[in-house]
Amino acid sequence: MSRACAATIHSAEHMKAALPAKVILRTSGFMRKSLCVVWNTSEKHPYIPSVYSQGNGKDSPKMYFLHRPADAGLLRKGEWSMKEPPYNKLFVPTYKREGAPMVRGKGMYLYDKNGRKYLDFGSGIAVTALGHSHPAIVAALRAQGSKLIHASNLYHMEPQIRFVNLLVKHSFGSRVFLCNSGTEATEAAIKFARKWATRKNRLKYHVLSFTDGFHGRTYGGLSATAQKKFHAGYVPMVPGFHYAPYDDIAATKKVLRKHDYAAVFVEPVQGESGINSAAREFLTFLRAYTNKHAIALVFDEVQCGVGRTGLLWAHQHFGVTPDMMTLAKPIGGGLPLGAVVCKDTISRVIQPGDHGTTFGGNPLACALGEVVLRMVSKKSFLAGVRSKGAYLKGRLEKLAGVHDTIREVRGFGLMVGVEMDADPSKIIAACRAQGLLVVKAGHNTVRFMPPLVVTRADIDKAVRLFSKVLGRRAR
Ligand SMILES: Cc1ncc(COP(=O)(O)O)c(C=O)c1O
Repeated sequence: MSRACAATIHSAEHMKAALPAKVILRTSGFMRKSLCVVWNTSEKHPYIPSVYSQGNGKDSPKMYFLHRPADAGLLRKGEWSMKEPPYNKLFVPTYKREGAPMVRGKGMYLYDKNGRKYLDFGSGIAVTALGHSHPAIVAALRAQGSKLIHASNLYHMEPQIRFVNLLVKHSFGSRVFLCNSGTEATEAAIKFARKWATRKNRLKYHVLSFTDGFHGRTYGGLSATAQKKFHAGYVPMVPGFHYAPYDDIAATKKVLRKHDYAAVFVEPVQGESGINSAAREFLTFLRAYTNKHAIALVFDEVQCGVGRTGLLWAHQHFGVTPDMMTLAKPIGGGLPLGAVVCKDTISRVIQPGDHGTTFGGNPLACALGEVVLRMVSKKSFLAGVRSKGAYLKGRLEKLAGVHDTIREVRGFGLMVGVEMDADPSKIIAACRAQGLLVVKAGHNTVRFMPPLVVTRADIDKAVRLFSKVLGRRAR
């Protein structure tokens, strides 16, 4: 039976004496005061050391944790492994995290504290559209960071004006509300729609959204998210929210007839639930119905917007224009930034004081947003996303012919989902161990959402690594 031992060690010599001979520790530089070593005494395999450094001052104790992680064979001698990092205890466990901390990013790669590099096909869940540390992003950070980081929305700020000008220029909207995240954009859009719709009929406050959609974690966003698993433990939801099956016109008509609606929220391409796209007919139907009944049609493009699908906005693929569009994720170049792009019909009912935010539209984030929008809105850039997306999808479809654990490959531009025949958590962990980052989504899907600056060579490498992982599992 395995048994964990702990010892407090006070010097490098003491540590070496206490450890199994095969373990080579990187002791120089960070062994100054006391060390806490934990190891498993019954395992036959060499122990893999990992380190937890608490604080960085000279006097802070350093703690080393030893155990044999499942991926022991993949670690080099002396590497730090943090399968169950002790600092997990410091966080409310809203995320299941393991492994060494990420410390650096460059281009398509993230680097962890072990110096291991990971080909990033998740982009921080569709955020880092220009890759890591893009020179234009770094330059904008430096320039704006040395000028102004916060003033308040009581005043105008130049980067906001430039950014919003670009958003209006490149979209259907005439006015923009700036916030910090996707869920805040959802909240604002719900409020704007209700204020607009209840002017003449105070009962016209209902909101419709669709199964498998995702609109955020705050109460408005959560209430609009028609997935029970996200509601569990948090009921009751906000009153007035209703759900219909995604992409099902007949069933949606029935739910629409039941109430007086202020808004219909829909993702043209659903991200969190595994890259599912609406049919053109469905969005066209929603547009016609909402026009007829004076309902605000809101497209959530938090994940699928800003070039991800190969057009600047996902709804451009369908020829349907909403009344409002929510944006976040990639729009701030890695900094928190969200936006609601509105038609004037909606925004004109909003008065000063009706809504607000201290940090929303932070000038540093807007300066990065300007860089992102300028680059991504270029026709040649978007054509590149489309052709690289088709290439990625094609390569993954070929894999489906080889690996029968793949059920389906779905995608739009560089937003590609591979549905597996079972929960892909282990596959995703194995990909990470192989140096490839991909992201889990609903319906047993592995999401491939690389930075939009990905190259075909990066795609080849990612598909090779993914295939290797699937091949291992088959044996
Ligand atoms: C489509 C969609 N809407 C809203 C959100 C919420 O965004 P945030 O996490 O920035 O609040 C997400 C996040 O995954 C999303 O994918």
